[in-house]
Amino acid sequence: MAAAQVPHQIADEAARLTVGILGGTGDQGRGLARRLAMAGNRVIIGSRHPGRAAAAADTIGSPPHVTGGHNEEAAGDADLVIAAVPWEGHADLLAQLTGPLEGKIVVDCVNPLAFDSRGAYPVPVAEGSAAQQAAAVLPGSTVVGAFHHVSAVLLLDPEVDTMDLDVLVLGDDRHATDLVQALAERIPGMRGVYAGRLRNCGQIEALTANLVSINRRYKAHAGLRITDIEA
Ligand SMILES: NC(=O)c1ccc[n+]([C@@H]2O[C@H](COP(=O)([O-])OP(=O)(O)OC[C@H]3O[C@@H](n4cnc5c(N)ncnc54)[C@H](OP(=O)(O)O)[C@@H]3O)[C@@H](O)[C@H]2O)c1
Repeated sequence: MAAAQVPHQIADEAARLTVGILGGTGDQGRGLARRLAMAGNRVIIGSRHPGRAAAAADTIGSPPHVTGGHNEEAAGDADLVIAAVPWEGHADLLAQLTGPLEGKIVVDCVNPLAFDSRGAYPVPVAEGSAAQQAAAVLPGSTVVGAFHHVSAVLLLDPEVDTMDLDVLVLGDDRHATDLVQALAERIPGMRGVYAGRLRNCGQIEALTANLVSINRRYKAHAGLRITDIEA
């Protein structure tokens, strides 16, 4: 069995990160903010409306590591930034933040999906995936794809102590993917697993449509586990 462990110094670096979350007022952003703050990271929730961001930060309560501000502030004041906005607003928002995101790792968890009477399905993306679109819009940033399959319902559920899933991490920069794996592993139960270059993010995003179908059929909040690698 091969090991998926990240080096200790990367884990220490992940522990010191201030994490900004664009669209952090939504379920996914608030869920990640809550879990990362519980793990000890400082988190800045971003919004188009700073008042909404402050209110979202207040709902997380203790520990007191979460603040709220304009998306620009969350991007500029953080060490690493998670994009957690709907696909429809993704390119436009990132294009407005090229300056504050310059030189930073941007973690994209956006799933370009649409829904009809038959359920969820992936929409075509000219760049290949939302993460590749982010990389095209943000040439001065290092884009990593991760957290696509993490259920916001479970992240926000106070009864859930442990998140039972692997987080697939994709990107073209080894230090950045190692760091995001280590960040995911700060959340109890989560394991970060490198899953390839950014050009392979399209099928990871699209796979979320299958998870939505699984969740609907089995009334679940399903996640993925990869076999034959050690935690
Ligand atoms: N929900 C999940 O379980 C889950 C799981 C994995 C991945 N994801 C991905 O995470 C992303 C966020 O999901 P979510 O459920 O949290 O979404 P959401 O609640 O619909 O949106 C998140 C936030 O994005 C901001 N926003 C909405 N429209 C925008 C636009 N046109 N431009 C800029 N900002 C906009 C809003 O914040 P303000 O109005 O405060 O600016 C909103 O609160 C999605 O791309 C989704 O595919 C979600």
